[in-house]
Amino acid sequence: MKFFLDTAEVDKIKRFADLGLVDGITTNPTLIMKSGKEHKSVIQEIDKIIDGPISVEGIATNAEDIIKEAEEFINWGKNIVVKVPMSEEGIKAVKLLSKRGIKTNVTLVFSAAQALLVAKAGATYVSPFVGRLDDVSFDGIEIIAQIKQIYENYGFKTQILVASVRSPLHVIAAAELGAHVCTMPPEVLEKMFKHPFTDAGLEIFRKDWDKANKIKK
Ligand code: G3P
Repeated sequence: MKFFLDTAEVDKIKRFADLGLVDGITTNPTLIMKSGKEHKSVIQEIDKIIDGPISVEGIATNAEDIIKEAEEFINWGKNIVVKVPMSEEGIKAVKLLSKRGIKTNVTLVFSAAQALLVAKAGATYVSPFVGRLDDVSFDGIEIIAQIKQIYENYGFKTQILVASVRSPLHVIAAAELGAHVCTMPPEVLEKMFKHPFTDAGLEIFRKDWDKANKIKK
């Protein structure tokens, strides 16, 4: 399973990239705003750290403008993926961009029906938002299972990129279902390292080490 970081914060990307845990990056206008940096320059900065795909999102909503934005974004790095909104115009743009070999990531996907359209358009990635579905009492992970089944039934090449991830439980569920990619905030990746028993166990071993050394003396 590929791990993408859902952030534009360069220091956090560096920290986990140094551990070899970052296969790619996803961004959106909100994450760019949070980074406090200008869109193009922060993407170029990330591109120097990450060799894998970097998803870049604009604000265009009609196919022609989405394509214009895409033509600009692909020059910002060596492996840019253009984020396209889930809509009729978005799907039209994906079809045209795919034909030209430009990688796409269809975002704001909230149902298996939408994901089926995304795959038929030939998108590189589909981004179902699990956390935002959970927020309104729909089971976000349930749609990952449906999408996985549908894509397998027909051998679609579109990769399932689980997004809007809020906790390690989302990552585990996505991995159990065999999603291709999980994009997570750095805070979620950090939490995956932690277990209270690990900390408690380390403390016990440290104390016993001291006790054993005292006995020897
Ligand atoms: O980048 C898309 C997605 O991961 C956003 O997550 O937490 O804003 O729902 P969130």
